[in-house]
Amino acid sequence: MNQESKTGKVILITGASSGLGEEMARHLAAAGHRVYGTARSIEGTDKPFNTVNMDVTNASSISTALARIVGKEGRIDVLINNAGLGIAGPVEELSISDVQRVLETNVVGVLRTCQAVLPQMRLQKSGKIINISSIGSEMGLPYRGLYSASKAAVDRLTEALRTELAPFGIQACIVQPGGVRTDINKNRIRVDLEQDSPYRASFEHTYRLIDESVENGMPPLAFAQLVAEIIAAPRLKRLYRLGRPIEKLSVLLKRLLPSGRFDKMIRKHYGL
Ligand SMILES: NC(=O)c1ccc[n+]([C@@H]2O[C@H](COP(=O)([O-])OP(=O)(O)OC[C@H]3O[C@@H](n4cnc5c(N)ncnc54)[C@H](OP(=O)(O)O)[C@@H]3O)[C@@H](O)[C@H]2O)c1
Repeated sequence: MNQESKTGKVILITGASSGLGEEMARHLAAAGHRVYGTARSIEGTDKPFNTVNMDVTNASSISTALARIVGKEGRIDVLINNAGLGIAGPVEELSISDVQRVLETNVVGVLRTCQAVLPQMRLQKSGKIINISSIGSEMGLPYRGLYSASKAAVDRLTEALRTELAPFGIQACIVQPGGVRTDINKNRIRVDLEQDSPYRASFEHTYRLIDESVENGMPPLAFAQLVAEIIAAPRLKRLYRLGRPIEKLSVLLKRLLPSGRFDKMIRKHYGL
């Protein structure tokens, strides 16, 4: 922990070593909040916010980190579940160990962290939980079926949390980004295809488009600013979606178009 300050909200962010999490942590700390940015090995790195090691796939690592933060601050006002892992590969060729790793991080990790933080928030009778999902949660994107599924699970869990937690004065919301320029391309699990995989050519092509959607994505600062507004809002909406117009339009088109037309559009976009 490397910062002493006694103003603003106490904010715990998971996955703050890079990308969206780091940008949110920097922005919120600069705005005067008491930010605790966590990741698996973030302590000792030079960041302008408090750093605490925490692995969302490990219950004892979460409870140790939380005990340190609550021990120091006496409360947690905001939890931002941001830690996440990308994966790309044809559903048929996903390895179950990769599947388990992604679900452990993206879904069970969110659940575990909420379960650890909620007793403190209930004690306070207040708190906000902001879960970082993806516009990709709204549709099963080709070669990102597992990633889409993991983020859809986060959306549904958040909806349930909203109603369960309302009597305790705790609010929850979903943030769905489109492509954001972060390290997610570098950190994504890229499935090793079978030697004679029938998906090879189209997977290579689609993978390039996936990388490009991140490279041409929005700057992470836009999301940090949105999250700052959410933290300041008296009432949280269920969903905040921020992305390029084409990304947001795709969600609407899925609802409006017959399924065959929508699938055709997706296949055309990805050259499938
Ligand atoms: N970039 C995009 O285009 C995009 C679009 C939609 C949604 N999102 C979502 O935004 C969130 C942030 O992603 P990003 O784009 O900023 O990617 P990123 O740069 O790869 O950052 C991922 C963060 O998650 C952390 N993390 C991974 N596994 C962890 C674990 N087991 N325990 C604790 N922390 C862990 C990483 O920290 P360590 O590896 O240092 O532990 C890192 O800080 C993710 O949930 C992602 O799905 C991103």
